[in-house]
Amino acid sequence: MDYNEKIKTKIEQLKNKEDFLILAIETSCDETAAAVTRGRKVLSNIISSQIDIHKRFGGVVPEIASRNHILAIDNVIEEALISAGVQLKDISAVAVTYGAGLLGALLVGVSYAKALSYALELPLIGVNHIKGHVFANFIDSDKLKFPFLCLLASGGHTEILKVNGYFDTQALGKTTDDAAGEAFDKVARVLGLPYPGGPEIEKYAQKGQNNIFMPRAYKGESHLNFSYSGLKTAVINYVHNSKARGQTINPYDVACSFQTEAVGALIDNAIRAAKRENMPCIALAGGVAANTALREGLKAAAEREGIEVFLPSKKLCTDNAAMIGVAAHFAVKEGKGGEDLYFDANAALE
Ligand code: KG4
Ligand code: ZN
Repeated sequence: MDYNEKIKTKIEQLKNKEDFLILAIETSCDETAAAVTRGRKVLSNIISSQIDIHKRFGGVVPEIASRNHILAIDNVIEEALISAGVQLKDISAVAVTYGAGLLGALLVGVSYAKALSYALELPLIGVNHIKGHVFANFIDSDKLKFPFLCLLASGGHTEILKVNGYFDTQALGKTTDDAAGEAFDKVARVLGLPYPGGPEIEKYAQKGQNNIFMPRAYKGESHLNFSYSGLKTAVINYVHNSKARGQTINPYDVACSFQTEAVGALIDNAIRAAKRENMPCIALAGGVAANTALREGLKAAAEREGIEVFLPSKKLCTDNAAMIGVAAHFAVKEGKGGEDLYFDANAALE
């Protein structure tokens, strides 16, 4: 039997099993991550962050990210196996993020996963990074059922999705320009705060007041799209105009006013979408989902409407490989076959 036939046979066997181990790898941006998962359970979840390396450049430098993934990936995978208490021989499939993301960064994980899969004759499951974020909601929980509504807000995406299954997701609304996380990062930069801006803005917002007017895009419109570029520009103009007039700004108030509006737009659209689609629950996903104002604001707004909210733990909201392993489990269960050796990274994956 050649490699492809062996993989086909193995994947057919996995479709009928619940308890097989997946080694998952995620290198789409600036986190080198590996995890061992079994179904919805996470046995280990190791993340080596490059944030300190990229901080001095004010954002992720793609070439530097790729080089650091190469340096870190061996150790991260070894640590994931050790901390799960398993060996490579116990693993039944390898899962890897193949897009979207930085091409060079993705290629490190994809090449590693392909080599591992070929050498050990293990099925290889390519996972869309965004699906990983969405499926983080299933980790350690059997309460969430299809179909559900997902509010996804990360550094590159802001969308409201109706999730009917792994292969059946429908975007009900999305950003027409900047992503929510991108707006947090750009506003942080104008306030002189380090990368990544989201957690910094959150800290500053806690010390400030919501007392500066911020514009709401698409106010009164019936669609569910977002726009963050006007809000970002409003903050930049406020800061620059104040400086030009010789006025000192209160960065805590700027952060709080921006965050209140940024999070408010997410919450309002998600609640409108749930009511329109008659969805009993909203799941939160993506890096911005680690924001406490968003988590608590959405929970409070949903409670008033009798809607349930699912929140992955903060560590599972930002980039990690556990979500990739759990998403891969669902993909296999829904009939995904193993990738062949022509499998490649796709930076612009939809
Ligand atoms: O999902 P993620 O880790 O990577 C992407 O797939 O993009 O999201 C990163 C984004 C960054 O823009 C970061 O500033 C934002 O999520 N973020 C936050 C918080 N933590 C991370 N935004 C607001 N509040 C946070 N606590
Ligand atoms: Zn992400």
